[in-house]
Amino acid sequence: MKAIVVTDRAAGTAGMKLADRPEPRAAINDVVVQVYASGFVGTELAWPSTWTDRLDRDRTPTIPGHELAGVVTALGYGTAGLSIGQRVFGLSDWYRDGTLAEYLVIEARNLALLPDDVDFTIGASLPISGLTAWQGLFEHGRLRAGQSVIAHGAAGAVGSMVTQLAREAGAHVIGTGRAADRQKALDFGASEFVDLDSEALEDVGEVDLVFDLIGGDIGKRSASVVRTGGTIVSIVGPLETKPADALVIDFVVEADRAQLNEIVQRVRDGRLRTNIGAVAPLKDAIATFNSTERRSGKTVISVRPGEQPCENQRQPKYGFGLELT
Ligand SMILES: NC(=O)c1ccc[n+]([C@@H]2O[C@H](COP(=O)([O-])OP(=O)(O)OC[C@H]3O[C@@H](n4cnc5c(N)ncnc54)[C@H](OP(=O)(O)O)[C@@H]3O)[C@@H](O)[C@H]2O)c1
Repeated sequence: MKAIVVTDRAAGTAGMKLADRPEPRAAINDVVVQVYASGFVGTELAWPSTWTDRLDRDRTPTIPGHELAGVVTALGYGTAGLSIGQRVFGLSDWYRDGTLAEYLVIEARNLALLPDDVDFTIGASLPISGLTAWQGLFEHGRLRAGQSVIAHGAAGAVGSMVTQLAREAGAHVIGTGRAADRQKALDFGASEFVDLDSEALEDVGEVDLVFDLIGGDIGKRSASVVRTGGTIVSIVGPLETKPADALVIDFVVEADRAQLNEIVQRVRDGRLRTNIGAVAPLKDAIATFNSTERRSGKTVISVRPGEQPCENQRQPKYGFGLELT
């Protein structure tokens, strides 16, 4: 099968190669999925799990990518709950070969069914951004209606989901980011916006929850705006400066079928808009990842562009009309 592989940790995305790799086989509780679309997070090649296994042994050549939408083609021994031919989407294991490939093996529990009216491109754009926002706001941040939230990077892949889910939950959302992203963040549901390059974050007053996906100096400044008894949720590692009187949680997103179902249902009924930037076929993926243009939303690789998995399938309603770049 065709797959993107990395072997050189220092080379970053410039070291990616399109290669032939053996088709993977399903182990206990796994399924094999024929990948139709794959999501990619720009920072992935800096994550240790891309390079070493759980025992810290070299695992290169590695196939990156951890978000997928596709069709189940084989079941492992003892795998229950999914069937061959079903459309699925989900989040793959950090330590296994990933989704920038024509096929991958994945534990069935990491997948949810992708409704027939949701395009594969849309499905592949949701798992990391949607689950991270959901878990950060509702599980770790324990957000309640009426609270105030700072959504850093509100026009980005995760931040746009944070902004929309928090707003839907009845929170007052203050988005942040670059000046050029003000309108986009407001369109996603932020009530206010702070341009971090030229406006003072401290001017927004005290908030109940900060969702930090930038870290560094912005993480430090965030500590000063969370109220006593409030919470800072970080997805970019531990905070350098921890406030004495607020809860601080840093976490890595986990697969969750029930939450994926909630997220895709919101896309179907219009409560959640996707934030897809570049979409490119597998043959152009490496050029897309190495583009010097500013990323605007989630990058999705269309591994089988334009192909429908089964006869008589309804035309996807959500995402229909997306153009490949
Ligand atoms: N722990 C987890 O489970 C988890 C899950 C998902 C993502 N993450 C991490 O979260 C981070 C964000 O991911 P993403 O996919 O949402 O990225 P993204 O789509 O690039 O969004 C980040 C947004 O924040 C903005 N931003 C970053 N630094 C800024 C600064 N100093 N001032 C103003 N705006 C700034 C970016 O603008 P520019 O592009 O102009 O910088 C962009 O709009 C990444 O580091 C990723 O690895 C962690």
